[in-house]
Amino acid sequence: MSKNRINISMPSLTDAKIRRKLGVETIKYELDPKYKDLGKGKTYYIFTYGCQGNEADSEVMAGILESIGYTKSDDPFMSDLVLLNTCCIRENAEVRIWGVLGQLKGRRKNNPDMLVGICGCMPQEESATKKIIESYDVDIIFGTHNRHNLPKLIYQAYFTKAKVVEVLSNEGNILEGAPKVRELKHKAWVNIMYGCDEFCTYCIVPYTRGKERSRAKEDIINEVKELVKEGYTEVTLLGQNVNAYGKDLGLDYTFGDLLYDLDKTGIKRIRYTTSHPRDLDLKTMEAMRDCRSVMPQLHLPVQSGDNDILKIMNRKYTHEEYMAKVNKLRELVPDISLTTDIIVGFPGETEEQFERTLELVKEANFEGAYTFIFSPREGTPAFKMKDDTPESVKHDRLERLIALVNEGYLRGNERFLGQEVEVLVDGESKNGEGMMCGYSRHLKLTHFKSNDLSLIGKLVKVKITEVKTWFMIGDLVED
Ligand code: 5AD
Ligand code: SF4
Repeated sequence: MSKNRINISMPSLTDAKIRRKLGVETIKYELDPKYKDLGKGKTYYIFTYGCQGNEADSEVMAGILESIGYTKSDDPFMSDLVLLNTCCIRENAEVRIWGVLGQLKGRRKNNPDMLVGICGCMPQEESATKKIIESYDVDIIFGTHNRHNLPKLIYQAYFTKAKVVEVLSNEGNILEGAPKVRELKHKAWVNIMYGCDEFCTYCIVPYTRGKERSRAKEDIINEVKELVKEGYTEVTLLGQNVNAYGKDLGLDYTFGDLLYDLDKTGIKRIRYTTSHPRDLDLKTMEAMRDCRSVMPQLHLPVQSGDNDILKIMNRKYTHEEYMAKVNKLRELVPDISLTTDIIVGFPGETEEQFERTLELVKEANFEGAYTFIFSPREGTPAFKMKDDTPESVKHDRLERLIALVNEGYLRGNERFLGQEVEVLVDGESKNGEGMMCGYSRHLKLTHFKSNDLSLIGKLVKVKITEVKTWFMIGDLVED
């Protein structure tokens, strides 16, 4: 607004589309000593929206902030630095963020020295960054490729009192060695790759997150070994398309190989997300069968069950090919729990095409799904596609789909009734006094009677006595 602006760099969707063959830069994090006490005596708060990738990025930003003296605050509106780590995958994700920015505007009156920063995916969009600069009282704007510059950006904002904008629309880099403050002590996110080269026509991610780039396997394996030493029980391997792991490195080493190697680290539980059905290969399925640490659960987004829609979405597989992978998986890991993502109301989707999705949901026997109405994202091919399906029809489809998906959730829990399951305990349950909860190997939320807080982070056995759509209830089995 009236503030000066240091325009270090602005986003460009045109640049963000470019994929070159050039090698990816690995940045070894080093703190410039001049920033070492920048946050001394000051507090910070990070709001995190969107996917697990953002949660992992926030842990890195928290690590960087604490390394320069900041301490975490409980009250976002009274802290010295507030960061909003944003998501722009669908319009409603952005709407929430505009709301929080609005709230911050008012609160800033009580705390005029507060610095407000916005980062993550939203600033990577040209139109969003323009709107933030023009209409909101934000001091620092940066994107997904430069969180390692956070101390520099804070420094500039403090000492120039100007609005600092640094959004890079390049293909991204790999950040190694940055400090992290992990949210939990028993479950950890481990990035194995960044970016996406799939370019599904509805999706903004390839533009906001840059090109597919894999971390070196040694760095990943060492991180997991460290986590084992620190007492972690579970890791979730993260990437937009983890099944493409290693392709960019040009080595004869794939995601399946990585699973076999990580199994040897001694970590008790390995999960991974997200998978692209086209890249899910036999070796990965075999690793799921062979490695006890790889959990019998998979999130495998299908998006639609109709071949024409899948084609226009640029998903590069058919209904039949998807089902062939599901059937192979079930052959190798018979008790696997499958979940998925589905978009309804993609431009031009007919009733018949939607019914093909319902058929696939039944055939695949999903035990859960995230369901979305198509949301046009500026800069993506689908944004310009003719979309004449009335909103009411889209909502009706979504409701029918959710009803079917919910039957799957319940069926998925019912199969454990009367059985003993292994649960990694997360903490006290919100489901009632004297109850604790955690997740089973199949990623089923499980509640059990106990108030023994020393169980947090431990693996326990629970005998399931009751199931609902969203969770299971059982009794702790003493050894
Ligand atoms: N509209 C609706 N849903 C979308 N997703 C991605 N882009 C869009 C969009 N433009 C969904 C997909 C993806 C999940 C993370 O979000 O289902 O798998
Ligand atoms: Fe988006 Fe498709 Fe990449 Fe997933 S695979 S992040 S839906 S472009």
